[in-house]
Amino acid sequence: MNTPSVSSALWRAPQALLIIASAVLAHGADGGAQAQPPAPAITIDASLVKGHSSPILYGLMTEEINYSYDGGLYGELIANRAFQDNASDPAHWTVSAENGGTGTLALDKAVPLNDALRTSLRFEFSAAGAGQRAGLSNGGFWGIPVRPSCTYHASFYAKAAPGFKGPLTLALAGNDAPETFATGVVPAVSESWAKYEVTLRTAAGISSSKNNRFVIWAAGSGTIWLQNVSLFPPTFNNRPNGNRPDIMQLLAEYKPAFLRFPGGNYLEGNTLATRFNWKETIGDISRRPGHMDDAWRYHSSDGMGLLEFLEWCEDLRMQPVLAVYAGLALRNGGAVAPGADLAPYVQDALDEIEYVAGDTSTQWGARRAQDGHPAPFALTYVEIGNEDWRDTYDARFTQIYDAIKARYPQLQLIDSSARSGPNGRVTTYAKARKADVYDCHLYTRSAEQSEARSTDYDTYDRSGPKIFEGEWATRIGAPTPNMTGAIGDAAYMTGLERNSDIVIMASYAPLFVNVSPGGMQWPTDLIGYDALGSYGSPAFYAQAMFNNNRGDEILATSAENIGSRTWQPPAARGGQPPPPQQVPTLFHGATRDSKTGTIYLKLVNPMGTSQDIRLEIKGAASVASEGESVVMKADNPSDTNSLAEPRKIVPVPARESGFGARFTRTLAPYSINILKISTKP
Ligand code: AHR
Repeated sequence: MNTPSVSSALWRAPQALLIIASAVLAHGADGGAQAQPPAPAITIDASLVKGHSSPILYGLMTEEINYSYDGGLYGELIANRAFQDNASDPAHWTVSAENGGTGTLALDKAVPLNDALRTSLRFEFSAAGAGQRAGLSNGGFWGIPVRPSCTYHASFYAKAAPGFKGPLTLALAGNDAPETFATGVVPAVSESWAKYEVTLRTAAGISSSKNNRFVIWAAGSGTIWLQNVSLFPPTFNNRPNGNRPDIMQLLAEYKPAFLRFPGGNYLEGNTLATRFNWKETIGDISRRPGHMDDAWRYHSSDGMGLLEFLEWCEDLRMQPVLAVYAGLALRNGGAVAPGADLAPYVQDALDEIEYVAGDTSTQWGARRAQDGHPAPFALTYVEIGNEDWRDTYDARFTQIYDAIKARYPQLQLIDSSARSGPNGRVTTYAKARKADVYDCHLYTRSAEQSEARSTDYDTYDRSGPKIFEGEWATRIGAPTPNMTGAIGDAAYMTGLERNSDIVIMASYAPLFVNVSPGGMQWPTDLIGYDALGSYGSPAFYAQAMFNNNRGDEILATSAENIGSRTWQPPAARGGQPPPPQQVPTLFHGATRDSKTGTIYLKLVNPMGTSQDIRLEIKGAASVASEGESVVMKADNPSDTNSLAEPRKIVPVPARESGFGARFTRTLAPYSINILKISTKP
């Protein structure tokens, strides 16, 4: 992209093209090369603003899936800190013993910490001989990360049986080697429940590693009970109970405008009892029981509770898009009947909105202040349910919609039962009330499918509800998408941007995956990590480059000589394959910053060959010849990023020259390109 390989003189001398073409043809007649088709041409009409692009187009969608929070963004390093993961087994906890010391671990319901955490861990140990010790170890979420010069904050509740007074020694230790990286001591343990807090600091010279465990060592003999054993490394913005800095920094690069939470299927759960019951996710972590995330088959600590979601928004300057429970269980229980049965859930939704946005004179606003955040959060969008594709949604939606609009008429309510199709068609189960926004989800299985769907909203009725593409992805690549996925995404995003007068928000899903063995429930996730490192996929960088290079005005464009290729769409479940379809070989879109005049032209080449393209900008008083580009490309479409190669495929910025009212560029094979062109209207 640095130097145009096709001279801009081609624009001025179409005859030259003819001569070249006839020469090539003549050559072809000799049994050599074939005639080249005319170069694709894209014209931007700078005098025609088609609409205004949503300032909050790109955001995040999140839920507890693939160890997104526990073992992911949420900073807690101890797995099963509250012993709720498994009713019959202290999962993730084992006995460590040295020099003949012994110990046994058991879950104990007879000595609860409080009425929220009713099962504690009993540790009976015998380590009275010289050099003996016994301890209990936790291996974290596929390891405990140890870094040099790092301060860890450990805390736990403990109670000792008569006869044992302490001390307890806390340690960060290697799994295989006897190496101890940091220790801290609790000199005495009382016979009634008390909280203990210790700081552990690693030395400067050590290497970073993850094959480690956290150990609580006891000396002598006795019995202790433990609860809420927690270990935090430094967190983003030093928030207590906060988030991993590396993943937050990656997200900050993207500059997402909103966060849709808490799901996804995680909002609903398979049964009423396993929904995201927000009232159980607030307050001190020692009073959070967590719940079975049966939608994704593991226990959630709910350390990432309602207030933590909101603080995550605050840290990255995102607005919350709050999904409230709409009475749908994914399995077994079905849906709550509208009317009296649904009423308590409607009240829960109203209380939740008050917790988020009410001032401290309200009951739930006061509770938020008590939890540490007196200032209300600005809330505009509330989604009712998630993928609620049921006939029963209509009545449930109506009841919840009416209750929220009566109390909060200013809120924009989102229908989660909507589905989009080709040619601007959107269907919904909500009939009696018209939502302000439709949340449509699109997961595709090939780049071509995403490319074919990039025109979906070109013909959508502009007087209809706005569109929220609340979950979407080109699902190519696992655990994280590869360049083919990113190209399908980028082509699709040109359609989202072209229609961003009506498509007001879009969020890829799922956002996170712990790539350790067993961490993934859903392949193709935007950001991958293990206990120690993290990386953005090519799809992540495609979104970041689109979001960070976007104007507020959508400009009219036209294209000529764009090639096409044949694609076989997949058959609907149990159906016959539809007829093959033609998919373009180039995707584009243009926006302009109304303040600076900079045009952002996006060009996606999904082909394995380079493409020479002709560009024209008409309707501008002047076009500067100097400009910039940002290009992300791959040698092979299956190329991807990983923990080992986190930045193999990333956007590369460059200075450009030779821009003008007419100019040419060459797009590299498998490339996503942005040209930043300075213009005056
Ligand atoms: O993103 C994964 C899942 O896909 C979400 O939980 C659900 O809403 C959708 O079906």
